Amino acid sequence: MGIEASKAKVLARAVLRNGGTSMKGVILCAGRGTRLFPLTHTLPKPLIPVGNRPILAHQLLSLTRAGIDEVALVVDPDQKRAFAQAVTSFAPRNMRVTLILQIAPRGTAHAVACVRRFVGSTPFLVLLGDNLFTWDLVPYVRRFREEAADALLMVERVPDPRRFGVVTLEGERVVALEEKPALPRSNVVLTGLYFLRDSIFSAIERMRAPREGELVLTDAMRTLIEEGRRVEAEFVPSWWRDVGTFEALLEANRLLLDKVVNERALSCSIVGSQLQNRVSVGDGCIVENSLIRGPVVIGSGTIIRNGCVGPFTSIGRNVTLERCSLEHSIVMTGAELRVVTHGIRDSLIGQNTRIQGSDARTARHKLIVGDHGSLTLVDPVGFDQYD
Ligand code: G1P
Repeated sequence: MGIEASKAKVLARAVLRNGGTSMKGVILCAGRGTRLFPLTHTLPKPLIPVGNRPILAHQLLSLTRAGIDEVALVVDPDQKRAFAQAVTSFAPRNMRVTLILQIAPRGTAHAVACVRRFVGSTPFLVLLGDNLFTWDLVPYVRRFREEAADALLMVERVPDPRRFGVVTLEGERVVALEEKPALPRSNVVLTGLYFLRDSIFSAIERMRAPREGELVLTDAMRTLIEEGRRVEAEFVPSWWRDVGTFEALLEANRLLLDKVVNERALSCSIVGSQLQNRVSVGDGCIVENSLIRGPVVIGSGTIIRNGCVGPFTSIGRNVTLERCSLEHSIVMTGAELRVVTHGIRDSLIGQNTRIQGSDARTARHKLIVGDHGSLTLVDPVGFDQYD
């Protein structure tokens, strides 16, 4: 973390040397995350940990690395406290973070309209709160600052564009945009990264009828195009994921863990265990009689006994795993899993969840469990009476 922070500072200084960023950041965090129920009943989507760090923490790091240190989070009033706590615990030290409330869930364009006073006439980068990427934003910040375009949209090619905003390009210029069309005109789609100027606010004001009660940012940018404004696109240089589904969260976890380094906190205790490949073990962890197959990251205060963990698994803080076998999964803070010996795979275990298994020869389980859930996995013999 120390190295990352100083690298971020050096990069930010380099950006400033090249003329200053004069760019603000806006992260739209007010979505309800319905595709991630029940996890998101209690944990706002941007605070879900991926690679043992909340999505929002990854995003703030990307912004500070690009020299963007004035950031607004647009949040649901009910989640204001959770975000305020999150900002206190992990926002980069030099960053000024403002929480702006979106009183009603009226769509992404409405959320952008809420930051009008915050951005004033400064160019700004809008990020959707469920977007993950690790590449450097500096070249795009610089390009947007140097060019006169009203919007620069980061785009990507996908096999099935129907659940995205679809872009029609002529060279680098965006000539048409359509939100989630049934018959897409191209396979180039909007990621959730948009460089914008204050011209977007008048476009939002002039937007036609809302779509199912929501004003969508894609339609606001289409208004810009219809008004003859210059809207450009650039392809993302490396992976980007919209982590709005369980599958996407686990895949992003796998991509992030690809970069995990081998590290052991001084205060951890590893006894009678084998740690293969790259494994990061946090402060105060106890690993006993276990096989850990990296890449795996283990948060501080976690206890793993007589188990087999990994590969591609993130274990949060203060987790207890006794006689468990799990791989390709995310286990969040405070979860307790005991005697789950037949293998958990592709699973998300919410905060403080308790799972008690048995030694019986049960089949594999796939679990999506919300915060404070409690599960008992019973012996299949117990189901005989229903056969
Ligand atoms: C939103 C945008 C869509 C964009 C997508 C990228 O959709 O409306 O244009 O392609 O994010 O993640 P959502 O994922 O909120 O349905």
